[in-house]
Amino acid sequence: MLNPLPPVITVDGPSGSGKGTVSQLLARKLGWHYLDSGAIYRVLAFAALADAVGFQDEHALADLAEHLPLSFVAKEECYRLFLGAEDVTEKIRTEECSRGASLVSAFGLVRQALLERQRAFRQFPGLVTDGRDMGTVVFPDAYIKIFLTASAQERAERRYQQLHKMGINASIGAILSEIEQRDVRDQTRLIAPLKPAADAICIDTSGLTVNQVMHQLLAIVAQIKVR
Ligand code: C5P
Repeated sequence: MLNPLPPVITVDGPSGSGKGTVSQLLARKLGWHYLDSGAIYRVLAFAALADAVGFQDEHALADLAEHLPLSFVAKEECYRLFLGAEDVTEKIRTEECSRGASLVSAFGLVRQALLERQRAFRQFPGLVTDGRDMGTVVFPDAYIKIFLTASAQERAERRYQQLHKMGINASIGAILSEIEQRDVRDQTRLIAPLKPAADAICIDTSGLTVNQVMHQLLAIVAQIKVR
């Protein structure tokens, strides 16, 4: 019997593994919806900073998450993120929000408050989504699960280039140390830690271009569709 639910492809991995770029490309190529789950945690961190809610206050953060007036608005080939009427697309990409997202996302009540909101993105013809726990917790029945990795040094360099393009000055050393701290926090937290699902296909993207990773992903999608 056909699965009545729309198909989902999950792309999990640490920051800088290239998951955001290739997931968006894959969604566009397939004509499917796209969800950047990390952006939701980033918007929550941004809102917490704006409302002076402490990154350690689980109950207040969960309450904020529950009522977060967050919307993804499609624009040309991309999307913009709004918190209420404020366009926060670029504002949530700062190191402060990266760190905040990693802290607030460690709380069970926060993750619970955001679970259904993420699942609501599962719509026909299908969803490509990236994050940390998309294949393990949010969409455990996903049709294809990918786990991308890359060395911390390479991920720091990619992040540096990304920030540079956005006109943000940063030092590679500081980015590397922040990435390593974030990896440890994401991998060792008790709830929904960053790890590949048992049925995930792992790809190390160190030294690979976006095109090379896309080539591997499209081959996997083509192969699995045939079965
Ligand atoms: O992917 P991105 O770097 O934007 O995610 C920011 C932070 O949000 C991550 O460091 C992680 O702590 C958290 N996150 C999460 N679960 C997800 C996506 C992101 O805990 N599915």
